[in-house]
Amino acid sequence: MSFFLEKFTIKGLEIPRFIGAPLDGITDSPFRKLVRDFSKEELLYTEMRHVRSVVTPKGGALALNFEQFERPLNFQFAANSTEFVESACERVLRVGVDAIDLNIGCPARNVVSSGGGSSLMADPERLEGILKEFRRFIPQHIPFTLKMRAGFKIINAVDIAKLAQDCGVDAITIHPRLQTQMFSGQPNYQVAALVKQAVQIPVVFSGNIINFKTAKMTYEKTGVDGFLIGRGMWAKPWKFEEIKANAAGKEYVVDGHMILRVALRHLELMVAEYGSHGLLRFRKNLPFYIKGHPSASELRQRLVQSDNLEDVQKGLIEFLG
Ligand SMILES: Cc1cc2nc3c(=O)[nH]c(=O)nc-3n(C[C@H](O)[C@H](O)[C@H](O)COP(=O)(O)O)c2cc1C
Repeated sequence: MSFFLEKFTIKGLEIPRFIGAPLDGITDSPFRKLVRDFSKEELLYTEMRHVRSVVTPKGGALALNFEQFERPLNFQFAANSTEFVESACERVLRVGVDAIDLNIGCPARNVVSSGGGSSLMADPERLEGILKEFRRFIPQHIPFTLKMRAGFKIINAVDIAKLAQDCGVDAITIHPRLQTQMFSGQPNYQVAALVKQAVQIPVVFSGNIINFKTAKMTYEKTGVDGFLIGRGMWAKPWKFEEIKANAAGKEYVVDGHMILRVALRHLELMVAEYGSHGLLRFRKNLPFYIKGHPSASELRQRLVQSDNLEDVQKGLIEFLG
């Protein structure tokens, strides 16, 4: 069987090589349900949540509001100290997840300025304490993973990966850009390859993988074990099936009717989850569903102004149907 269609194992968790990335504001419960309409086995991440927010009644209820069929699920935490790690892990594990991830890659100013996200890569001592605290409260049978960058302001991914492995981290995802690069520019494939060579635990690559061709190119340059699909699956919940078909040498056809069906289902799931606010959240996805359509700008204008569900549904059917 092709390498790309084989599964790999993180601790005891056997999963396909393609994984759904965390995308804050996008990979929420409705989106994950949409993915599950197509793909059942792929590991999906939650959006990143700070350990402190998960232990509050409101934050916890929001972050942990997911259905069992969204699993396998990797719950992603942000943390800037060891405070709340124990109670946050306990809360998440009580609901049931398949892995717990710590983010040390987020470049956002508010996250970095409070000492979390990618800034932790510049403070290995504090990071070590936090990693050990997570490992202490995550049972050994639950994989603990780490999502990092190439570094904060300077590249130090290899050192951080080794530190993580020594602290009991079970897999590393590397998005090999510096904090200053945010989400653009070429990913540094060489750094990812060095990380892969430096550790024995599985290494997953994140950055610019949008189809089978880019996954294959990434593998050839880095030798990584798995591939995170982020922006490539935005409004394309069929993406894993497309990649697997292409990896098997088959075509995967997506036509306008399928896009319409998916967009309407996404809207329905958003409204079921968030009530009228769901319409607002759906707008973020709309441009991706109608991209390339000859009347895209007209449709966008009409739907962005509407706060009526039926009107948005009608508009989608009129334009895309
Ligand atoms: C809108 C958006 C939200 C993101 N949210 C998160 C997040 O919550 N946690 C995280 O680790 N990475 C987050 N990322 C980074 C992605 O997971 C991924 O590493 C990055 O986008 C590169 O991969 P891609 O080219 O496949 O999108 C986010 C990226 C974008 C564009």
